[in-house]
Amino acid sequence: MARRKLIAGNWKMNGHLDHLRELHGIEKAAKSHADVDVAICPPATLIAPAVQRTPGLTIGGQDCHEEDRGAHTGCVAAPMLAEAGAKCVIVGHSERRADQGESDADVQGKALAAHRHGLQAIICVGETEEQRDAGEAEAVVTAQIAGSVPPEATADWLVIAYEPVWAIGTGRIPTIDDVAAIHAAIRAKLGDIIGGEADGVRILYGGSMNGDNASDLLAVDNVDGGLVGGASLSADKFVPIIEAAAG
Ligand code: 13P
Repeated sequence: MARRKLIAGNWKMNGHLDHLRELHGIEKAAKSHADVDVAICPPATLIAPAVQRTPGLTIGGQDCHEEDRGAHTGCVAAPMLAEAGAKCVIVGHSERRADQGESDADVQGKALAAHRHGLQAIICVGETEEQRDAGEAEAVVTAQIAGSVPPEATADWLVIAYEPVWAIGTGRIPTIDDVAAIHAAIRAKLGDIIGGEADGVRILYGGSMNGDNASDLLAVDNVDGGLVGGASLSADKFVPIIEAAAG
């Protein structure tokens, strides 16, 4: 089935108000490539000003709590993101799984919270280098899918991002064959969990995606877009990835 490509930028813990100037070039590229969905996930403090300055661009969060309110100092709830104007939220990024000890069950709860408040959930999965070297990449990733994806998820609000941990910020990427194999395995596992809805779910690749490698990665079967870290911080580096997705 034809799935619209999605190119999403994850600014991680980078950027201040003055950095939002980069969004204008990204918004312009998004408008001129209307066949591609484009989103930027800045730090939570920048969501509302980003929405205000570039209303034509989809803005998202980088995490949300599984509960809607409560005594959770420092956390951000999905309805808060929605109120700020976010339309999507990344959940279960490997940096949060590692730094905050998030489990698959936590990630599933976060995805459900996102959906309760009308946000698309971008669930991240990916193996470490040790796991890949041990030949466990596919088993690790499909187990993360099984634990993190809510059985009630549908293609209109679920997005998966496959991000091998060892490819994030390193300039290294898997072979095209390895990407194809993992994305196919993810699609098959999604089918076990959500049935026919799996066909419509976008599966993004993330990890050192840039203007030079995006065309090759985006041409792989079952690669429906990218989740981009470093190269999303400037319009000059991000726009070529949008253009590659537009084909
Ligand atoms: P890089 O594109 O900087 O490797 O980061 C990928 C990532 O973690 C996006 O969520």
